[in-house]
Amino acid sequence: MRKATITGLGKYLPDRVMTNHDLEKIVDTTDEWIKTRTGIEKRRIAADDQATSDLAYEAAKEALADADLKAEDLDLIIVATITPDMMFPATSCIVQEKLEAKNAAAFDLGAGCSGFIYGLSTAVNFVESGMYENVLVIGAEVLSKILDWEDRGTCVLFGDGAGAAVVSAAEEGGFLATDLGADGSGADTLYQPAGGSRTPASHESIDNKGHFLKMEGTSVFKFAVKTMGKASLKVLKKAGVKKEEVNLLVPHQANTRIIDAAAKRLKLDDDQVYVNLPEYGNTSAASVPIALAEAKEKGLVNNGDKIVLVAFGAGLTWASAVLEW
Ligand code: ACO
Repeated sequence: MRKATITGLGKYLPDRVMTNHDLEKIVDTTDEWIKTRTGIEKRRIAADDQATSDLAYEAAKEALADADLKAEDLDLIIVATITPDMMFPATSCIVQEKLEAKNAAAFDLGAGCSGFIYGLSTAVNFVESGMYENVLVIGAEVLSKILDWEDRGTCVLFGDGAGAAVVSAAEEGGFLATDLGADGSGADTLYQPAGGSRTPASHESIDNKGHFLKMEGTSVFKFAVKTMGKASLKVLKKAGVKKEEVNLLVPHQANTRIIDAAAKRLKLDDDQVYVNLPEYGNTSAASVPIALAEAKEKGLVNNGDKIVLVAFGAGLTWASAVLEW
């Protein structure tokens, strides 16, 4: 059977660094609270003139170079994001134009922080079916522009960034299984109330802060702790891989307590779990590809390794994947 694998990885983080101490000057919080409750120490913030497609483009160029491909070799570009440049056209079309990927179809995918793995699963199916040879999957976010910088419950958690992977046809190995899930009953625990067709932009929507990210942290936390371990075990079963065979877990980077709970379910040691949350905070759909690209750069991803990717996010959604490198 035709397989699909990752042939290139890339990432981009904006230069501007915001530490927890910087946040102490903006909202009523402390470095100590943020570190102990979340594990986050700093995050990157996009420049005023940087939009999601700008970050996505930089990560995409790196992934294409890593895959040794030209932009015109791409058949499809998927951008997973909750912070598109604008409502339409799709940010993926803007990236297609920047890359001059003239043979590529393009669409955006909205699955919150699970979006990148949703995108990978979509890419794998397009490649395995024989419809496409090379699919570029990007997770990119400029969350800083939809945060309420007066809400200490959310603004301390997130950061900006982009990560990208090229998924291409392979003879063997590659993706062994992917698994996706959703529970829309949690839609109102993590959302941006205004700007869509339910509550269009108005003076009132602005006065009510409807264009900012809203979250019920505790509900999302409980959901995440339950889901991350379960989704990892489910995809391993689907792939016929035992948890003892896993070399590396690359989880969505939202909270070290959530990551620890997932690692415990898989009985993994600390050095088998990639964590960069202290550096970048939660970059939503960008977090898994940034972490995977970094793990690869650091020599933690080797031929034959079995790697589990897992995420949860707005929707609520979850997604997991197992691949043999
Ligand atoms: N600094 C200081 N105190 C704070 C802060 C802050 N930044 N934020 C909240 N607090 C206070 C609260 O007001 C509360 O005070 P009170 O007891 O006087 O009311 C107290 O700290 C405890 O608040 P909780 O919300 O109960 O704290 P909790 O331990 O649940 O941690 C957190 C909050 C970190 C947000 C946690 O719930 C969490 O990580 N949730 C998951 C969030 C997440 O991962 N979201 C991303 C989803 S992915 C996507 O699709 C974008």
